[in-house]
Amino acid sequence: MRLRKTAVALGLGLALSLTACGANSSGGSGSGGESAAPSSGGVKVGVILPETDSSARWEGFDKPMLDKAMRAAGLDPDIQNAQGDEQKFSTLADGMISSGVKVLVIASISSDGGSAVAAKAKAQGIPVIDYDRLNLGGTSDYYVSFDNEKVGALQGQGLAQALQGQQGAQVIEIEGAPTDNNATLFYNGQQTVLKPMYDSGALKLVRSQPIDKWDNQVGGTTFEQILTSNGGQVNGVVAANDGLAGAVVTVLTKYGLNGKVAVTGQDATADGLQAILRGDQYMTVFKPIQEEADATAKLAAALAKGDTATADATATQTVADPKGNRQVKSVLLTPQLITKDNVKVVTDAGYVKASDICVAETQAACTAAGIK
Ligand code: BGC
Repeated sequence: MRLRKTAVALGLGLALSLTACGANSSGGSGSGGESAAPSSGGVKVGVILPETDSSARWEGFDKPMLDKAMRAAGLDPDIQNAQGDEQKFSTLADGMISSGVKVLVIASISSDGGSAVAAKAKAQGIPVIDYDRLNLGGTSDYYVSFDNEKVGALQGQGLAQALQGQQGAQVIEIEGAPTDNNATLFYNGQQTVLKPMYDSGALKLVRSQPIDKWDNQVGGTTFEQILTSNGGQVNGVVAANDGLAGAVVTVLTKYGLNGKVAVTGQDATADGLQAILRGDQYMTVFKPIQEEADATAKLAAALAKGDTATADATATQTVADPKGNRQVKSVLLTPQLITKDNVKVVTDAGYVKASDICVAETQAACTAAGIK
């Protein structure tokens, strides 16, 4: 707090000279004014990613893919990660806004945190793109993601397929963060398949538990508690992503149950794909993040020029924000179900390298699946 006041005082002259509406827009408008990132000559765009611990995707896929796509679109991206810290998320945004980014791209930790940042940017006339996670009740101009209910439906479908013929199979659900709208959409999608099966008794729901911040470790300990209090009985686990699935498989292995229980996942990470090839995880969902990065770069490049016609022609879908009671212009890409039979799709797409997933214990499965 104290720091911010000092920064506002120091930055006042700058803020006044930058924009007439700076004075009463927000306290964050003057958080330094110096840009840390070296410029490559393109148009400055700020990108804030939410965490690293919840999934290997953010640092392993999103960051390099956004960087490449944005540079190819003539932009000069400054890509930072808030490491699951709301305060850091807000401070990073303040710094980017005052360093003069022309567009801000945010994958937020929570809708509230993301919406606060979007409002600050908007007050400075900076367009905001919600990246992957929609900020409910927010004001961002555009949203780029996947069809997230479809992601959940694929998880439900995968689990139902794996448990086919096991009448009354017991299922534990380890879900994503309650503050991430995607986790809600994944859950809703899963339930389109699973709820009727719970209702008919084809499957039995033991417990469904959301995991704060998608914390993989907490996911594992929570799963272990549910498993032991259910007398060690489980046939299927909905794990909302590969990180949570990995934690679940570690617990299953401790109890000698890995390979005997169907586990879902998401993100097509190298670890998730290896677990599938080993037979410890049943499925994952492949979301080609390069397409998400490319669409975001295209939108950002248009918005940086004030070209909303091109942006609107790119974001032709809409997503409902029930909290803000509005429709948000969107690009929604298509996810794909991956099981042992089609892991090759992911390596053929160049998303992960065969050498990242074909290791000693998976080599036979790789050979059988034609992955080289
Ligand atoms: C993303 C998933 C990711 C999860 C945890 C979600 O918002 O869509 O791909 O696994 O966050 O980081």
